[in-house]
Amino acid sequence: MTAPDTAEWPQTLLGDALTRIAQEVDACFDTLLPVPGDARDRLYQAMRYAAIGGGKRLRPLLVTAVAGMFGVDRHVAVRVGSAIEAIHVYSLIHDDLPCMDNDAMRHGKPTLHLAFDEATAVLAGDSLHALAFDILSDQALIGDPGVRIDLVRNLALASGAAGMAGGQMMDMVAETTAFDLATVSRLQALKTGALLGAAVEMGAILGRLPAEGRATLRAYARDIGLAFQIIDDLLDAEGDEAAAGKALRKDAVAGKQTFVSLLGADRARAQAHLLVDQAVQLLGSHGEEADLLRAIARFIIARDR
Ligand code: IPE
Ligand code: IPE
Ligand code: MG
Ligand code: MG
Ligand code: MG
Repeated sequence: MTAPDTAEWPQTLLGDALTRIAQEVDACFDTLLPVPGDARDRLYQAMRYAAIGGGKRLRPLLVTAVAGMFGVDRHVAVRVGSAIEAIHVYSLIHDDLPCMDNDAMRHGKPTLHLAFDEATAVLAGDSLHALAFDILSDQALIGDPGVRIDLVRNLALASGAAGMAGGQMMDMVAETTAFDLATVSRLQALKTGALLGAAVEMGAILGRLPAEGRATLRAYARDIGLAFQIIDDLLDAEGDEAAAGKALRKDAVAGKQTFVSLLGADRARAQAHLLVDQAVQLLGSHGEEADLLRAIARFIIARDR
């Protein structure tokens, strides 16, 4: 065997990690969502349609990357990551509905309400939302009740009106109201940043990192969360639909204020690069155990989907 080229190392590290987590999350949902063989079959089939073989799995990747720094059991970290992914998948199902973004394509296939129907899409979202807390509250997975409740509370706050759902509301308002940069930043911090932040935080909770020791990881999460949404907005403005697997050019048509509409594409991209550099610098006190977190930060601006 030849020694790995060190310049290629972070790339290989990330590529392997992305492949591995995608398989693990798929396997987790496959196990948790067996089709029961009764009148609920359509609901389970819809949940499986949305949850298996889906997106980049960035949130579970963040949980396992942070948990891995503290020697957490991989199976537990993957399950907890899948709980956050269940919330994320539900948020995308509802985001695509005709009453929200009215989108026809997600992950390169028809959106759930088109492949099934709107009522089933609403119920599949509801059920994935509940599944997240089903996973986290399972005593057989996490024995320590303090850790369980900490995880549940973090995900609840990041998902609801103080987090993702609140950000989605602001995003709807942004279609008809001129927001300034500070308000758009707040919107994105809730809509996208909250769940990404929860992924990092929940990895740290699993690792039993004391709350006062989490400041660096929180700052890292805040920076990559903002950079992530700037790139989502940039991809919407100038990305490739086939690569993205979803309809693009939606924000401008909806008249939505985004980082790109407010700053212009060049300044928005520069800002995303600055945030990622800052996130990587924040990890300066960590050694190679944080290499995956560094690679994830770089991936966020290099991605095309
Ligand atoms: C897309 O998120 C929606 C936003 C929160 C901006 P991702 O780009 O993480 O979605 P998938 O799951 O990888 O497709
Ligand atoms: C969706 O944001 C964010 C959530 C579902 C929380 P977008 O509407 O920008 O996401 P895409 O572009 O449809 O993936
Ligand atoms: Mg939307
Ligand atoms: Mg959308
Ligand atoms: Mg978008």
